Amino acid sequence: MYFKKLPVLKNEPVNEEYFILGIRDKKIVENIKPGQFFQVKDSKAVFPLLPRPLSVYKVEDDRLEFLIKKVGESTNNLSLLEEGHIVQLLGPLGNGFPLVQDKKVLIASGGIGYAPMPFLEQKLKEAGNEVWFYHGGRSSNDVFCEDVQNCTEDGSCGHTGFVTEHIEKCFDSTDIDVVYACGPEPMLKVLVSLCSSRNIPVYVSLERVMACGVGACCGCVIKIKENGSFVYKKVCKDGPVFDGAKVVWDE
Ligand SMILES: Cc1cc2nc3c(=O)[nH]c(=O)nc-3n(C[C@H](O)[C@H](O)[C@H](O)COP(=O)(O)OP(=O)(O)OC[C@H]3O[C@@H](n4cnc5c(N)ncnc54)[C@H](O)[C@@H]3O)c2cc1C
Ligand code: FES
Repeated sequence: MYFKKLPVLKNEPVNEEYFILGIRDKKIVENIKPGQFFQVKDSKAVFPLLPRPLSVYKVEDDRLEFLIKKVGESTNNLSLLEEGHIVQLLGPLGNGFPLVQDKKVLIASGGIGYAPMPFLEQKLKEAGNEVWFYHGGRSSNDVFCEDVQNCTEDGSCGHTGFVTEHIEKCFDSTDIDVVYACGPEPMLKVLVSLCSSRNIPVYVSLERVMACGVGACCGCVIKIKENGSFVYKKVCKDGPVFDGAKVVWDE
């Protein structure tokens, strides 16, 4: 894990809601696993005091990119940073997705849950897996790539309807071995139920609100079913990726 202050290499809007922030550093990119994240902050900003967790979106040579949705003060501020402005990064943090080999795998993302998936897709393909990639959003604004099965609730791009409806059809026609998912928790809950009824293992990455990001504050705990009892786990340190079948969703 590194704590570094680095200049912004790239800051480009995707559309009015999303942007891509890039930095360059040889060391930081060396051993990143898909699904890991960094705590990121504008080094000059006093408020918000705490950095924000952002998933690794793309890694290419010594370059690292984040795909970011503007939702509040930090993400809006980050969207305005100019090239050369210094950001502070702590990471890579978290466990990341466990990779399988030579399987049929399905990636499912919703909204900004797309962010960790292109890097995961790359690593899964390198490990010999055949990959089906479904992404869902409210509208075409939440769609990032033409090469995946896009589903929009308003039908403005790709298939119309919830991404889980289209994944269910895929399950009916293809024997998927493993599912990897990241997105809003209601979507993950439906997906886990679809997978459980078909005995398909599913790994979910949870985007909970975080404070410290390193296991110190207990601000991100979730309830997990384990060996017949319940335990609390920290999303930042024990996750953000969990066995979806073990997550207790309603609390
Ligand atoms: C492991 C992890 C990885 C993440 N990866 C990415 C990523 O790659 N790209 C990205 O854009 N975002 C990602 N997020 C979410 C991102 O961290 C938040 O959107 C960010 O912290 C918001 O900061 P802000 O100051 O802009 O907004 P705030 O002012 O902190 O929040 C604005 C509003 O959004 C709500 N909110 C904030 N964070 C979350 C959240 N995690 N879930 C639901 N509602 C929230 C707040 O309650 C508030 O209503 C990730 C979160 C986690 C835990
Ligand atoms: S955010 Fe502090 S323990 Fe997870």
